[in-house]
Formats: sequence, C-alpha cells, structure tokens
Amino acid sequence: MRSHGCFQRCISPGCGATFDIGEVYFACPRCGDLLDVAYDWSVISPPRSLSDFQVRWANRRSALDFSGVWRFRELLNFCPDEFKVTLGEGQTLLLPSPGVADYVGTKRASVFLQYEGLNPSGSFKDNGMAAGFSHARLVGASRVACASTGNTSASLAMYAAHCGLGAVVFVGSGRIAFGKLAQALDYGALTLQIAGDFDACMSRVKEASARLGLYLMNSLNPFRLEGQKTIMYRVLEGLGWEPPDWVVVPGGNLGNSSAFGKAFMELKELGLLKRLPRLAVINSTGADTLDRLVNEKKLAWNGGKYDRRAIADDWKWQDRTGRLPHTIASAIEIARPVNAAKCLRALEVCDGVVRSVPDSQIMDAKAQIGRCGLGCEPASAAAVAGAKLLVEQGVIDRDARIVCILTGHAMKDPDATVGYHTGNYPPGKTVAGARAFANVPIPVADDIEAICEAIDAKR
Ligand code: F0G
Repeated sequence: MRSHGCFQRCISPGCGATFDIGEVYFACPRCGDLLDVAYDWSVISPPRSLSDFQVRWANRRSALDFSGVWRFRELLNFCPDEFKVTLGEGQTLLLPSPGVADYVGTKRASVFLQYEGLNPSGSFKDNGMAAGFSHARLVGASRVACASTGNTSASLAMYAAHCGLGAVVFVGSGRIAFGKLAQALDYGALTLQIAGDFDACMSRVKEASARLGLYLMNSLNPFRLEGQKTIMYRVLEGLGWEPPDWVVVPGGNLGNSSAFGKAFMELKELGLLKRLPRLAVINSTGADTLDRLVNEKKLAWNGGKYDRRAIADDWKWQDRTGRLPHTIASAIEIARPVNAAKCLRALEVCDGVVRSVPDSQIMDAKAQIGRCGLGCEPASAAAVAGAKLLVEQGVIDRDARIVCILTGHAMKDPDATVGYHTGNYPPGKTVAGARAFANVPIPVADDIEAICEAIDAKR
C-alpha cells in the first residue's frame, strides 16, 4: 500500500522490498538492510523549479512555511500536514567566510559555512527530529528513544517535550559534553548513562526498543533523514539554486552524509539539478572507521552490491583488537556507523571522498572559525580541517566553491574550547599539538596599573 504517494523501500536493489508508510521498521524485515522513504513523484507533484520554494519566505504566519524543513515539504511529503511537527527548525544561514578561506588555503570567496548551530536545540539534529516526530505522531507512538553522543538526545528530548511524548535517551557514561547532557535533563528525558560508549548504547537501544515497543529516533530511522535532506536545499537556496563544487561534512553515524546523498539523488532524478556537488566526509583520526573501509579496504556502494562482509569483518576486528574510538570531537566518537551503507551510496552519487583529521587540527580549525565570528563545537570543525587537508592534497581546487557544514553550536561543549585555550582539557581528554590559536586568559591583580599594562601589552 502506498499512502500519499509515498512508501518505504529497502536500499538493497537485490531486495527492494516495499512497505507502507504507516509501518514501523528500523531495518528491512526481509533482508536486514537499511530502509529509505521513497516517493511516487507522479502522485506527489514536486515543484517545477527549486526557486518555487522561495514564495514561502514571505509567509511567516504559517508555521510550516516558516520551518526550514517543511518549507520544502513537497520533497519529503510522507504525512498529511496535521501530523507535521515544527519548532521553527532550519532557520539557518549559509555565510561566506573569507577568513576561514584563508585558513583553508583557497581563494577568499571560495568558502561558505552552513551554520546549523542556529537550530532551536543548537545542532542540525532538529532538521531530522521535525520529520521523525511527524512520523512518530502519524503511527501513534507514545515513547521515543535514541542512543546518542549528545546532540540527538538533546534534540529528541526537546521535541518529545513539545509533543508530549515520553523520551528515553541512552548516553555513554562520561562521554557526552555537558551542554548536551544539560539539555536532555532539562527537557525531562529519562536519561540512561550506560557504562559503555556510543556503539554500546546503539546496540542496547535497538534491543530495548524492540522489546518495549519504543519508537527509535536514531538515524537508522529513514524518516529522520528526510528532514536532514533540507540542509542541502537551504545550501542550494543560499547559493541562488546553484550547486557548490564541494560539500564537506563531519562523519559520525553517517546520517547526514547519507541524507545529503539522497537529497541530491532525488533532485537529479526530478530534473531539478543538472550537476551534483562532490561530497567529502571527514572522520576524526580517533574514530576513522569510514576512512578505513573506503580508503584501505576499498569498500564501495557498487550499485548496491557492496561487500557486506567487509563491514561485519571490520566490526569483528574491532572486537578482537579491543579498538575503541577516542576523540575530543565527542559527537563523532563512533566506531560502528549504522548508516555506513547509505553513506557509501552517497559517496557514489556525489563522487565523494573520505578523510580523517587529528584532534589538534580539529581544534585549530575550530579556533579559526571562532575568530571569524561563528562558534561551533569540535566535530563541526572537522569539516573545515578536512577541507584544508583536501586543498593541501590538491583534491579540492583553490577556486572551487566549498560549503562546510557547521553541525553544532559552540555552547554545546565549552569544556573542549576552554581546554584548547588554557591547556586544561576536560578529564580523560588530551590533545597533542601546538594549540596554534590559543587565546590564553591572563591573570591580573585587582589593580588599575597592572590592568592597563596587561591591556597595552596586547596591542
Ligand atoms: N556533528 C555533530 C555536532 C553531531 O552531533 C554529530 C552526530 C555529527 C556531526 C555526525 O553526524 O552521525 O550524521 O554522521 N551526533 C550524533 C548524536 C551521533 O548522537 O548526537 P552523523
């Protein structure tokens, strides 16, 4: 059955099983692969041109037109409007940053930052939650759950409180930044601090959801990713509906990169975009599973015939060697990304590349972004550090148009920021490197002479 011209479909072309939009699955019940939301465009009638969406800018009195997600609803119309949830997400900006371009090593007009920290809970997750909660309401869910490195739990807790649904979040004990934990607690989510890391939380939340009938809000939920497609629509909008040459995004559980690939795949299919940008997914070297799978093991989507065993073998190798992820960019401290297969598809669609950057470069890039007037958390800065690396490697041209996605706000993880500037990192985290842009606070006596001297010394 295909409600509203829309259905769920297994991503594996060899299986291709389809399911009604009202079913709740987090993997294909036939073959176990991931699911997509798919559209019958002849029923949905998408816009004739992307610029048609612009008329909604003027209509701020309509909550759905105001939402940076639902403004594009014809491209993710899986439920009737009465079920759609919004908290004003997606009021985000694409800003040129000549200062960051200098740092990255390109022409000054080349680098744009898509600032997703402006979302109501301070990260890009709100784009996905607006869509995920709409589906949860459509199917009558009463309790929602997720595993999280912090931002998913913050965003889920906020939307659950808004919708009056019960929220259960699984976080790794001592693993999430305080700004994010504070949000989950304050929005009233039942917060389980599991004695393990994100990957442990992820496997437990799947078990608990199956056993207790919780609605799972992690990015293996295909509806959540529909909301995250809109980040790319807003990037296109910011560039006058012209695609950039590169989109650079940090990679953790690989939901964002997967959603971006699907957005571009569909726009091409609809004839709304002729040329697609290239995609760069950036890991931290302390959590570099995708980099290893793609660059060392040469894993590729291969039209859907990707080597499933290579992924399972990598997980087993991690078990055998006791390898655990470790990075100051706690949001992407993930070793078993659940969306690996969809990300491989995105890399094929967008002729993508994968790189890893060390924590020292992530933190230097973060300080540079801050100096240019946009605050972000460490994981977001991996995008800028990755862009710099790709320019140095000659993969990205100096005059290419590059969009780096700043996924989360600076206030999410003040400990990491203060650690970088003072040298006193949070417990359990140290970052080797010169801290090239550290802005060290200066202790001064409560004395006007000493104060003026300290000010003049910095002229
Ligand atoms: N940046 C930030 C700020 C994040 O919070 C995350 C993921 C990512 C990047 C990576 O995105 O998973 O789509 O590849 N945070 C998740 C969480 C895992 O639980 O908050 P991804």
